[in-house]
Amino acid sequence: MLKLHNLKMRYPNGDGLDGVNLEVRNGEFVYLVGPTGAGKTSVLKLIYMEEFPDEGYVLVDEYSSQDIRDKEIPYLRRKLGIIFQDFKLLEDRDVFENVAFVLRVTGARSRDIKKKTLRALGEVGLSHKSRKMPEELSGGEQQRVAIARAIVNEPFILLADEPTGNLDPKTAVEILSLLDKLNARGTAVLMATHNYELVNNTSKRIVSIKNGRTLN
Ligand SMILES: Nc1ncnc2c1ncn2[C@@H]1O[C@H](COP(=O)(O)OP(=O)(O)OP(=O)(O)O)[C@@H](O)[C@H]1O
Ligand SMILES: [Mg+2]
Repeated sequence: MLKLHNLKMRYPNGDGLDGVNLEVRNGEFVYLVGPTGAGKTSVLKLIYMEEFPDEGYVLVDEYSSQDIRDKEIPYLRRKLGIIFQDFKLLEDRDVFENVAFVLRVTGARSRDIKKKTLRALGEVGLSHKSRKMPEELSGGEQQRVAIARAIVNEPFILLADEPTGNLDPKTAVEILSLLDKLNARGTAVLMATHNYELVNNTSKRIVSIKNGRTLN
């Protein structure tokens, strides 16, 4: 369960968030939609606790922004899968290692690392490219690797920040269908976008954000 309650946050320049309320239940798919500068990325940063609010709180299962300790933050992040517009793959290692390294840092056994990594790559349809380097892949394939990395710890929710922003329309649709498939298997999704066309015909829940405030 994810809950954002009355979040306010100011960056030093005065911009920021000014009243964000949102609940995402397990298994839900929610679009966070708003124009550029509305605060979408800031909301996601508060959820994975790269930033902390000045007022209000974030609850991610048992973790609250009000009393989480620094050393608990890696555990919080294992409950979340995070996907970015620019993929953020490690260019110096292959597809398999890009996914596996998030398990290596948890100290998992190598047999489990292999099993889970191959399973995640299978989910995104890239089992056959596990020994390719990121630069050998198309943008859509790179985003699939990033999605495999995001799901390998079996998070209850995926946070996607404009995940189709660097992709052509056809590839964008494929990535959306992949998120849909993962959602149908039970993972919640919170996807931020300023692309209103993308959500025009959706049957999914839409939360709008403008000037740092969610409108409900
Ligand atoms: N690190 C920062 N320091 C100062 N101001 C920031 C910082 N990050 C974001 N802002 C400002 O906070 C506001 C919200 O930015 P944010 O990146 O959350 O918007 P967004 O909705 O994700 O926009 P976009 O659709 O362009 O990605 C903007 O006015 C932005 O300029
Ligand atoms: Mg943004």
